[in-house]
Amino acid sequence: MKGMLVQNMSFKVGQTLTIVGVPKPDASNFAVNIGPDENDIAMHINPRFSAHGDENTVVCNSYQGGTWCEEHREGGFPFQHGEEFKLTIEFTPEEFLVTLSDGSNIHFPNRIGADKYSVIKAEGDVRVRSFEIK
Ligand code: GAL
Repeated sequence: MKGMLVQNMSFKVGQTLTIVGVPKPDASNFAVNIGPDENDIAMHINPRFSAHGDENTVVCNSYQGGTWCEEHREGGFPFQHGEEFKLTIEFTPEEFLVTLSDGSNIHFPNRIGADKYSVIKAEGDVRVRSFEIK
């Protein structure tokens, strides 16, 4: 695979994950995935500059049992090619609450329903500069 894969992590209810990264100069899209293993995704955050028919849109979804579930589009698009962004994902008892660099939010339900996830993956046209769980 390309990108960053972190396994055997512990991202639990009550914690916040902060990711700082830079989209590549010619990025079409990239994603951050949080899940229980490498096959399932509780939260896929997919900023699309121009991909899959979307322009400057963040698409979120889950991937369960081998298929993508219902897409969720919310929040702004504070991403620019080659410019650093920061996003935070707060794992509350009800949902993943994402805050983007422009202060806009995405409320994404915890469809898989676990209270702890162990895999974080970044893929596509991005370089991750740092990530932190607190
Ligand atoms: C698909 C795309 C996947 C993922 C999914 C989200 O079209 O190929 O990478 O972003 O949408 O629903």
